[in-house]
Amino acid sequence: MAPSFTEIAYRTLQQGRSLAGLVHKELSTKVMEVVAPDVVPQTEPVPTEMMAALRQSLNTLHDRDWLDAEEGLYPQSLLFDIPWLDWAERYPRVWLDLPSNWARRRARDVQDLPDLSDRDFYPDYYLQNFHHQTDGYLSDHSAELYDLQVDILFNGAADAMRRRILPALLDGLKHFSNRSQANLRILDVATGTGRTLHQIRAALPQATLVGVDLSEAYLRQANRWLNQGRCSLVQLVQGNAERMPFDQGGFQALTCVFLMHELPADARQAVLQDCYRLLEPGGVLVLADSVQLKDSPQFDVAMDNFRRVFHEPYYRDYISDDIDQRLLDAGFCNVQAESHFMARVWSATKPDSGTK
Ligand SMILES: C[S@@+](CC[C@H](N)C(=O)[O-])C[C@H]1O[C@@H](n2cnc3c(N)ncnc32)[C@H](O)[C@@H]1O
Repeated sequence: MAPSFTEIAYRTLQQGRSLAGLVHKELSTKVMEVVAPDVVPQTEPVPTEMMAALRQSLNTLHDRDWLDAEEGLYPQSLLFDIPWLDWAERYPRVWLDLPSNWARRRARDVQDLPDLSDRDFYPDYYLQNFHHQTDGYLSDHSAELYDLQVDILFNGAADAMRRRILPALLDGLKHFSNRSQANLRILDVATGTGRTLHQIRAALPQATLVGVDLSEAYLRQANRWLNQGRCSLVQLVQGNAERMPFDQGGFQALTCVFLMHELPADARQAVLQDCYRLLEPGGVLVLADSVQLKDSPQFDVAMDNFRRVFHEPYYRDYISDDIDQRLLDAGFCNVQAESHFMARVWSATKPDSGTK
């Protein structure tokens, strides 16, 4: 059957985003080579076969994304739902931000953060410039640029990767099929600027959605994007994912996207344990993060380059970590995982009779 106009539009959009991401990265590297050659990271050249495999897995991700929307798991309109005006207005600031990024790299300064009156509120591992990001996660400036920067990093596929949690989430919630959607509570852990909640809301428009994150500034940005002009509001709460400010068993599902690789191993385990605590028995946890060496050895150079280009102090440990085992250690069962382009998606269930 010939593809519909909407499918052609989706594929063209994704090709355009992918190209825009590649062009931006190429240009910004060239500018860095001229203006700040001393801070150009030493990366390994990506072999041609790996480039081809990456392109192929990106296409497969878009195929799955399109098919799931076509089957009605989420609306097709979600595939086009991007804050274009905000991003267009912010894009020049991504460039203007580069000199301070280079200066931090030159000074090997990864703790260049705003003055904090509540420093003790944050775990030590958090107080860093992850990705060499200006202000770390601790300013409105950082929150305003973050989504655009992530989209560029993943060649326009960041939301498509986030959406890979939706099939597992919808599947896990079948356990509560005797309840109306309005009686389901879903928590997005480390929600950042709320892009994952945005995807979840499109698939489950009546469920009660809550997001938790350590960054007040990122939550402010999430509030602007998720709640402005809406009557059903997403609740956004500041808190540490290692001990979240919610009662035991109060959620039927939890999601957590792109957090694990930014945590030291003990914090990773503590987060999974707290997720377990918050789930009602029978509830599902869906995690998404970077692929790992074990499941995607063919992308080892890409993973290594990521860690060399960005300040990601726990990434090397994360890509060798056994997340399946960590989930089992936290008490979960039915652990399953799949890889999609650069994302690994796990789902795990809290046993129905579990009292851990
Ligand atoms: C890479 S971002 C991912 C954000 C979002 N989930 C997404 O898909 O873009 C990591 C997020 O985790 C948050 N974070 C890091 N450590 C945390 C912790 N211990 N507790 C709560 N949030 C944390 C950061 O503030 C940031 O918003």
